[in-house]
Amino acid sequence: MTDPTSQNQDLDRSRGQARGIVFVAGPLPASALERLEEGPLEVVQAGAGTTGPLFHAVCAQIVALVPLLTTRIDAALLAHCPRLRLVANVAVGVDNIDRVACRERGVTVTNTPDVLTEATADLAFALLLSAARRVGEAERHLRQKGFPPWSPSFMMGKRVAGATLGIVGLGRIGRAVAQRAHGFRMNVLYTQRTRLSMADEEAADVTYRPFGGLLAQSDFVSLHVPLTTGTRHLIGARELSLMKPGSVLVNTARGAVVDEGALVHALADGPLFAAGLDVYEHEPQVHPGLLALENVVLSPHIGSAEPDTRKAMAMLAAENVLSFLRGEGPLTPVG
Ligand code: DGY
Repeated sequence: MTDPTSQNQDLDRSRGQARGIVFVAGPLPASALERLEEGPLEVVQAGAGTTGPLFHAVCAQIVALVPLLTTRIDAALLAHCPRLRLVANVAVGVDNIDRVACRERGVTVTNTPDVLTEATADLAFALLLSAARRVGEAERHLRQKGFPPWSPSFMMGKRVAGATLGIVGLGRIGRAVAQRAHGFRMNVLYTQRTRLSMADEEAADVTYRPFGGLLAQSDFVSLHVPLTTGTRHLIGARELSLMKPGSVLVNTARGAVVDEGALVHALADGPLFAAGLDVYEHEPQVHPGLLALENVVLSPHIGSAEPDTRKAMAMLAAENVLSFLRGEGPLTPVG
């Protein structure tokens, strides 16, 4: 593998030019890089992603590109990579990739479903509990102002057990959140474009509601939809105004599913009690209004941040590349 940190970044150009390159646009666990090395092509890893000189030195030879979710793959980038045939994203979300531009150029796109489901559902539930019970605010208070005198009315939160949870998007992660909610004896509503069969609803112990009804009836709403043109600002001022007074919004999907400006108003002036957010509309920027509020728990896009999960994501991306290069097709193509 070409070492991006070494003084000598002299690529094995004869091999690269003849057979092509797998370009890894960011740090990956060693196990996934070693697996890629077992394939037929030279592997080039670049800490600077697709913005550094290394990418520009080899882009004409890249056959497969392995980006992190922070690397934008658009028409301009594709134009620099005439031999590119596969983009194997190390994420389940593919909103960093212009899929239309990829399709037009005959570039296959893959993602990493399943392997991050449990970790992301864990974090969604952690945010739900933290927002409900004001864990972040209480911790800040203790660290900054010291241990308060015990009082029967200090830091009153919101009850989780037995409350109603509304899940927007009952895909893999939404279902895993529902399972956790059942452990808290929550009543689980869901909404999505296609309603499940009655048998499936019964098996999952979930009840369908149209979007507006779910917002109006849920004490907690957790978002689990991909970011597309159809879901951008799915939760805006109007939807927030439909939410139950005193409810909590949790977002571990993508930031732009929520209109952050509208969310700041709903947290400051109602109807929301609190929010728990792992993703932001303009990452890595966080809306200053959110940073100024106490009633929002903020984590920096760590939904899948757990070693086994991250290794599994990287390994699945590597297996997608190898399977594609063997001519067997990718394992988890994005339709
Ligand atoms: C994904 O894979 O889309 C997640 O956001 C990564 O944490």
